[in-house]
Amino acid sequence: MEIMRSTLLYLSKNRTANRMAKLHGLRLGAERFVAGETLTAAVGKVQELKAAGIEATLDHLGEFVASREEAEEAAQEVVNAVTAIAASGIRSNVSVKLTQLGLDLSETECLANMRSIVGEAKLHGGFVRIDMEDYTHNEPAIRIFEQLHGEFGGQHVGLVLQAYLRKTEDDMKRLEHLAPNYRLVKGAYKEPPEVAFPEKSEVDENFIRLIHMQLEHGHYAAVATHDDRIIEHVKTYTAEKGIPRDAFEFQMLYGIRPQLQRDLAREGYRMRVYVPYGTDWYGYFMRRLAERPENVSFVLKSMFKR
Ligand code: FDA
Repeated sequence: MEIMRSTLLYLSKNRTANRMAKLHGLRLGAERFVAGETLTAAVGKVQELKAAGIEATLDHLGEFVASREEAEEAAQEVVNAVTAIAASGIRSNVSVKLTQLGLDLSETECLANMRSIVGEAKLHGGFVRIDMEDYTHNEPAIRIFEQLHGEFGGQHVGLVLQAYLRKTEDDMKRLEHLAPNYRLVKGAYKEPPEVAFPEKSEVDENFIRLIHMQLEHGHYAAVATHDDRIIEHVKTYTAEKGIPRDAFEFQMLYGIRPQLQRDLAREGYRMRVYVPYGTDWYGYFMRRLAERPENVSFVLKSMFKR
């Protein structure tokens, strides 16, 4: 299983495969996890989710940004998405990856790109979530978040914190004075044991600890997981503590456990789905397969059907 996971993560970074995938359109069963190649298609999916009482956050997929021009183009795509969301009345958030907006090229440039996105969101009363990438980008992401939070306010920008990182509990304490709106996740990248808990049980334990801390501080928590045990825990914990339903939300990825998404919404919980779209779907798709290699058999079956 570990070999399969590492192979899929390795393949997710393959530029040739990425280019081939772009040329050939949504395939290999990727449409299960990717809402479409265009913003219009994604907005259509968000409308379908809305009809089931489910909110969304749109993610314009992108990988391998190699120049400032590409980073600016990516930022413009997100600004367009924010504008289209406002025009269509779907009230979706957007999620962004800082490396797509030039973080590896220049932190200052990336911050400038983020300013145009969060500025546009503020204009329309929207919200921008900064996804958290691998460990090497963790501190720069926190710095950029703090800066944007100061400039635009916490109701328009939020961050993701990863439970697998040993440092996250301290980060949460360090940033508490900002009353941040966090999405809390287990963490999706391959990190060494020096920085991340190697055991799943330790990650789960820390995840619960962080959820408690965030809610006890009285700050908004988006609990992003497909894990029944964590979801059940949050339901029981918030009921016991009298924490109102509008103080937190559940989040899941598009195409993963859709029935559970609908059930939670029907039970009166806030439910938000992460809706990725765009032609750069290949890397995202490979990472989803790596998370759950059982999905590979599903993909193989769908290939033979064509
Ligand atoms: P876990 O992996 O333990 O899975 C629990 C159960 O969920 C599985 O047994 C299975 O039933 C189901 N499941 C999980 N993954 C599945 C899949 N791919 N296909 C089908 N079933 C699956 N990470 C990160 O590092 N930075 C980020 O910014 C984000 N952002 C983000 C947003 C949202 C909305 C979600 C839901 C997740 C993220 N993540 C993330 C990913 C996160 O860190 C984590 O890798 C995945 O959510 C998988 O972990 P779970 O908490 O779902 O539990």
